[in-house]
Amino acid sequence: MLINVEDARRAARRRLPKIFFDYIEGGSGAERTLAANEADFARWNLRQRVLNDVSNRDLSTNVLGTQQPLPFMLGPVGFLGLYAADGEIAAARAAHMEGVPFALSSFSIASIGRLRAETAGPLHFQLYVLNDPTIRDEFIEQALAAGVTTLFLTVDVAVTGSRERDIRNGFRAVTRITPRLALSMIRRPRWCLDLMRGGMPQCGAVAHRPEFGHGALAQAGNLARRIETRLSWADVAWLRKRWPHRLVLKGVLSVEDALAAREAGVDAIVVSNHGGRQLDDAPSTIAMLPEIVEALGGSLEVLVDGGFRRGTDIVKALALGASGVLLGRAYVYGLAADGEDGVRRVIRHLAEEIDTSLALMGLTSIAELRRRGHEALRERT
Ligand SMILES: Cc1cc2nc3c(=O)[nH]c(=O)nc-3n(C[C@H](O)[C@H](O)[C@H](O)COP(=O)(O)O)c2cc1C
Repeated sequence: MLINVEDARRAARRRLPKIFFDYIEGGSGAERTLAANEADFARWNLRQRVLNDVSNRDLSTNVLGTQQPLPFMLGPVGFLGLYAADGEIAAARAAHMEGVPFALSSFSIASIGRLRAETAGPLHFQLYVLNDPTIRDEFIEQALAAGVTTLFLTVDVAVTGSRERDIRNGFRAVTRITPRLALSMIRRPRWCLDLMRGGMPQCGAVAHRPEFGHGALAQAGNLARRIETRLSWADVAWLRKRWPHRLVLKGVLSVEDALAAREAGVDAIVVSNHGGRQLDDAPSTIAMLPEIVEALGGSLEVLVDGGFRRGTDIVKALALGASGVLLGRAYVYGLAADGEDGVRRVIRHLAEEIDTSLALMGLTSIAELRRRGHEALRERT
């Protein structure tokens, strides 16, 4: 039974070939930041309050200028279409059905045009700037043409973190289906049959460019190798001028960078360490959130991601000043476990947990929780 994110994680592990499950699950180095993202939520308790009338509760809130029924969204995760057939479409549909936004990664199987054609609802796009300006411009054009209004610029991947599970599994070197990969795939027949229905997966954004190779695995490797290492604040300023809609900087983890982001004129930041996949021994995001929020003093919207597996984790982030939360692995487990239904169940489970927690904290709305702020929590000593 899939009643919480951990159930979905276990089901995803049973369903996916090890090489893909490890790619999703793993972090960089000793995976200390990965572990801290989840563990540091325990540094905060929720204050239980009684005898308030909590019969009417409202989980809606304003995130990135839009009122949405729940205080979280599906963040950008690469290659969803390798974990389930048409994974990007399934996730976007689930998000739409539950009323939350979905952010499509630059590194996806479904192209943004296809996603727009086959799904409704608000569509966010996450941009990796590649070291070829023609492709960068093409990504931006495609996002504009698809009606994207919010662009997440991810800035914490100047180089790829050392992900030892991937190195051990030979993930990065895989450009085609080797005998070892074939064996691990055959061990997961349901996944195989599901994926094979759609034919050989390709990365939609670069499928028309022969220099990226043929097939999603070769294309994925080439995309990752071409992320612009020289990206700087000047590029953020350039994009600010070029992109006419909402611009969000994803991957900020220090007060200094948060202040610089405000200077650069972005509309919001995502406090993120890329789910513990980049700089190992960087602090957890929930540990950094309060000082970043305080330094900005309400002058810039702050979202956060990293390690969110429980509704109570989301409640804590909102009390600490985030306007909303991006889910990563939590919904990807649901997707790998059971496609669109699996994602919907994860969203609903988290929503129910937020709802129950608010009631038992004597609160009736996200607005009230945010007003109460730190007072709604108790820091463990
Ligand atoms: C398998 C995987 C692929 C990811 N791909 C991207 C990506 O393409 N672009 C991006 O900005 N972030 C990417 N991320 C990072 C997520 O957007 C998010 O920051 C992170 O997953 C949050 O941590 P959590 O998974 O513990 O919730 C990826 C994360 C995972 C787990």
